[in-house]
Amino acid sequence: PADKPAIIARIRKLLKERDAVLVAHYYVHPDIQDLAESTGGVVSDSLEMARFGHEHPGKTVVVAGVRFMGETAKILNPEKRVLMPELEAECSLDLATPIDEFSKFCDQHPDRVVVVYANTSAAVKARADWMVTSSIAEKIVAHLHAQGKKILFAPDKHLGDYIQRQTGADMLMWNASCVVHDEFKAQQLEEMKLSHPKAKVLVHPESPPSVIAMADFVGSTTGIIMAAERMKAPEYIVATDGGILHQMRKKLPGVNFIEAPTAGKGATCQSCAHCPWMAMNGLGNLLEVLERGHNEVRVDPEIGRKAKVCIERMLDFAK
Ligand code: 13P
Ligand code: SF4
Repeated sequence: PADKPAIIARIRKLLKERDAVLVAHYYVHPDIQDLAESTGGVVSDSLEMARFGHEHPGKTVVVAGVRFMGETAKILNPEKRVLMPELEAECSLDLATPIDEFSKFCDQHPDRVVVVYANTSAAVKARADWMVTSSIAEKIVAHLHAQGKKILFAPDKHLGDYIQRQTGADMLMWNASCVVHDEFKAQQLEEMKLSHPKAKVLVHPESPPSVIAMADFVGSTTGIIMAAERMKAPEYIVATDGGILHQMRKKLPGVNFIEAPTAGKGATCQSCAHCPWMAMNGLGNLLEVLERGHNEVRVDPEIGRKAKVCIERMLDFAK
C-alpha cells in the first residue's frame, strides 16, 4: 500500500506500547519478517519460534504464522496474551488430523510411543508423548529407537518416511501431507538441475521421497538457511515455501536462489510454492490486531496443560 511506511511506523510504536514481541515464520511476507527482526522479535523455524516466544519477557506475543504456531506459544505461556493477525490461518497437516480419529488410532496401538509434528492442534498434542519439529524430529526418533521403542508418527507421511529411512525406527504413520511441499516434482527438478549444473539442492523433509532423494541437504527452514551458508555454492535450488528466499538473499547477496519447480511449471518456475495460510498474514491485519487486541489465541486450559508436557519434553531435549 502507498502508506506502507506509515503502517510500519505505527506497528513499531504499538509493539513497544503494548510490551509485545513479534515472532514470525520464514514463510510470511518479507515486510513482516523484517519488522520482526528489527523490533527485537525473531524470524525463524517452528522450533525457535516456540523457544523464543517462551523465553521473551514481553507480556504479549504476536505470532505471524499459522494457527498451530500461535497455539504452541499460548500453551507454553498461558499467562501471556498471544495474538495472531489471522486466526483462520490453518495448515493442511493440522486439518487432516481430527482429534477423534487420531485418538482412536492411538488407542489401537497402545504399545507405541506417540510422536506428533508441531503442525497439529492442541488436542492432538495433548494425546501425544512427544512433539517434534522438522529440525529435531530425526534426533528424537533416533533417541526413542535406541531405547527400543516403537513409534506412532503423525501427521506428515513424507517427514515420517524420511525419518524412518534415516533412523531405521519401527514407525507406524498417519497419512497426511503438506499441500505446498507435496507439489514439488522430481522430474521437473531433474530438468532444472540440468540447466543449473552448479546448483546445490536444498529440500524440506515435507517434500515427496523422490524429491528428497535428489537433495544435497534435507532439513528444517533454519537448517536450509544454515546449509546454504555452509556449502558456499554459487546457486541453490530450494524446495520449500518461497518466503524463505528473502532471508537467504539477505544473508548471501550475490548467490542465486531458485525456487524448486512444482507440477506443470517446469524449469521456468518463478513463484511456485507458497503456503496460502501463511500468506494471510499482512501488514494491514498485523496493525489491526495491535490496535484492537482482538484475535487472541485461546486454548482450553486443561488441553493446554496436557499438551505442554510433550512440547516441554522436546524443548528440554533440544537444550
Ligand atoms: P519448519 O519448522 O522447518 O520451519 O517447518 C514448518 C512448516 O510448516 C513447514 O512447512
Ligand atoms: Fe502447513 Fe504446509 Fe503451510 Fe507449512 S507450508 S504451514 S506444513 S500447509
